Amino acid sequence: MKKKIAILNGDGIGPEVTRQSIQVLNAVAERFGHTFDYREALIGADAIDKTGTALPSETIDICLDCDAVLFGAVGHPKYDNDPTAKVRPEQGILGIRKALQLFANIRPVTTYPTLQHLCPIKPKNMEGVDFVIFRELTGGIYFGKKQTAEDGSSASDECSYTKEEIERISHLAFQYAQKRRKKLTLVDKANVLDTSRLWRKTVQQVANEYTDVKVDYMFVDNAAMQIILNPKQFDVVLTENMFGDIISDEASVLSGSLGMLPSASLGNKTALFEPIHGSYPQAAGKDIANPTGSVLSAAMMLDHFGMKQEAAVVRDAVEWTLENNFVTKDIDPVNFYFTSTIGELLCDYVIGKIPGSIKKENIELRKSTII
Ligand code: IPM
Ligand code: MN
Repeated sequence: MKKKIAILNGDGIGPEVTRQSIQVLNAVAERFGHTFDYREALIGADAIDKTGTALPSETIDICLDCDAVLFGAVGHPKYDNDPTAKVRPEQGILGIRKALQLFANIRPVTTYPTLQHLCPIKPKNMEGVDFVIFRELTGGIYFGKKQTAEDGSSASDECSYTKEEIERISHLAFQYAQKRRKKLTLVDKANVLDTSRLWRKTVQQVANEYTDVKVDYMFVDNAAMQIILNPKQFDVVLTENMFGDIISDEASVLSGSLGMLPSASLGNKTALFEPIHGSYPQAAGKDIANPTGSVLSAAMMLDHFGMKQEAAVVRDAVEWTLENNFVTKDIDPVNFYFTSTIGELLCDYVIGKIPGSIKKENIELRKSTII
């Protein structure tokens, strides 16, 4: 198969984690006889520095012309600490989500036995935790009308949803639940918000078409508690934009590191794949970031292309590195391997070089030990 992939590196650790994914994709191409062509485009603070805008129109055109987008991260502290900045890196990711109409953001929360010691939850509550968050991505408070009074004394962000916006992601979430454990939890704040009441009503209607799926409803404050108290109860979690943003970071704690979690954003045009973590500027250029979130996002891209076996090999490669303690600094701050080393090991696994011919001594040379 031949596929064109847009590469949006963005800021901070974005370029270095994405580089590992490209190498893993190249290894997949080599092993399975595919051709992946990459087209780089600017986004985020990097794009602001070079063009004055966080999302140049050329970037949108390139994405629309490709079969999928692999996205790194955006964000830079110089904007975080300047609330008056008119141009912000985040406008890049929000803009591309809107331009590609990526209304469904799928964030699987997978747990790995080898990382369990990093998770603050009691092991008995963690066994078999495996759920997926369906976060609505192009509506709600993120995209509502924003206003700041001229004298700066007040500001508002509007949260609005249409029935149709809720329906389209609900159908995807229900269909996904049908392929899993057939349970869907709608997370909302229907005791307070009109938009949440519309979510509840709409999801109740959509549920009639999926009678084999058991539905329950949970207020977001309770959900925040249940995710760490009893995460096993969740299968598919459906929620609006901002609640999804918040609970997915919370859920990443269950995997052991924010660096582990991938995501897929689907809509009516080109799909986009990105790790859920941010640009982590403190680690930028140090070769210490965890590339797993990005690599697993690339695996979700392979699934999207219908390359199921290829995606499975990439996931096996990730599990193999974890089982052999080939991990980055976020996982083991003392005995850790560099981002690029993990990338090379993943590629070796994908093309079938290891575990058969693994030369542990060579790998050990690339390990960093802090005493
Ligand atoms: C995410 C990020 C983004 C969001 C930021 C960078 C705008 O936190 O993808 O979760 O809030 O959606
Ligand atoms: Mn987020």
